[in-house]
Amino acid sequence: MPETRTNQEAAVITLPHQDWSDVPLASIDAVAALEQGKVLFFPHLAFNLSEAEKKLLTPELVDPKRKNISYQPEQQKLTGVALADKYEMVQKLLARHHQACQALIISVLPEYRHALHMPTNSLRLHPISAWKASTSWRKDDTRLHVDAFPSRPNYGERILRIFTNINPHGENRLWRVGEPFPELAQRFLPRLKPYSPFISWLQDKIGITKTHRSHYDHLMLQMHDVMKADLEYQKNGPQQAVEFPPGSSWICFSDQTPHAAMAGQFMLEQTFLLPVNAMKTPQNAPLKVLETLLHKPLV
Ligand SMILES: [Fe+2]
Repeated sequence: MPETRTNQEAAVITLPHQDWSDVPLASIDAVAALEQGKVLFFPHLAFNLSEAEKKLLTPELVDPKRKNISYQPEQQKLTGVALADKYEMVQKLLARHHQACQALIISVLPEYRHALHMPTNSLRLHPISAWKASTSWRKDDTRLHVDAFPSRPNYGERILRIFTNINPHGENRLWRVGEPFPELAQRFLPRLKPYSPFISWLQDKIGITKTHRSHYDHLMLQMHDVMKADLEYQKNGPQQAVEFPPGSSWICFSDQTPHAAMAGQFMLEQTFLLPVNAMKTPQNAPLKVLETLLHKPLV
């Protein structure tokens, strides 16, 4: 695998937390690193499950119609649990996980504390090999991509994700991490289809999208697709492999940092949205990078 992006130290910043509310090291500016597209890696930050909760770690718990179990803590809304008698235990687990992630934000990214919104967390129980086998190339997350939501335009808001490997059998989660966003954008912008306000209007009208898809959302979806469809880029584009062992956690802006999940099973994940103006360096947001390259507003 080519490792032309840079070395592992440059793409990944390691932090020593052992507890979700540990006091951070003053010497590391975690917000600045994250906003540059780096992955914050916590090799010793585990999320502990009780003996009863460990028995939940089986793909049979997931509704066959869904990829993952997900939870919206503000609405206390749980979806994707196939076994009714496990519902309450899963809900308590995901509520506790959400609280831990909030504590971590206060500890590591306190600047974002009041601006993060729309929390959703997920319990991911399928091995990556299983969903790769059953999906189209567009949904194949073993290909390098940046995250973009097809039906939920977000108008440039950042997608912040916290991941924890909870594999009980010692299996690492293996990722590839790609190049910095400004380089990615320059590489792919000339290949993206032009935006059509009429098509966006139509997609909203007939319910394909929940709200009107902005120019920004169009470009991010296009970038997601064009990256995944480019097999030469997948193979030889700038990238490096990163391993996340069980008992470790990591954070990234998944709309900015190209990533691919290559192997692993059993993970907890927390998503938040963050307004661009809540960033310390808004010029690093994909929205601002794309607007600068195209010399026009995109939302
Ligand atoms: Fe992703």
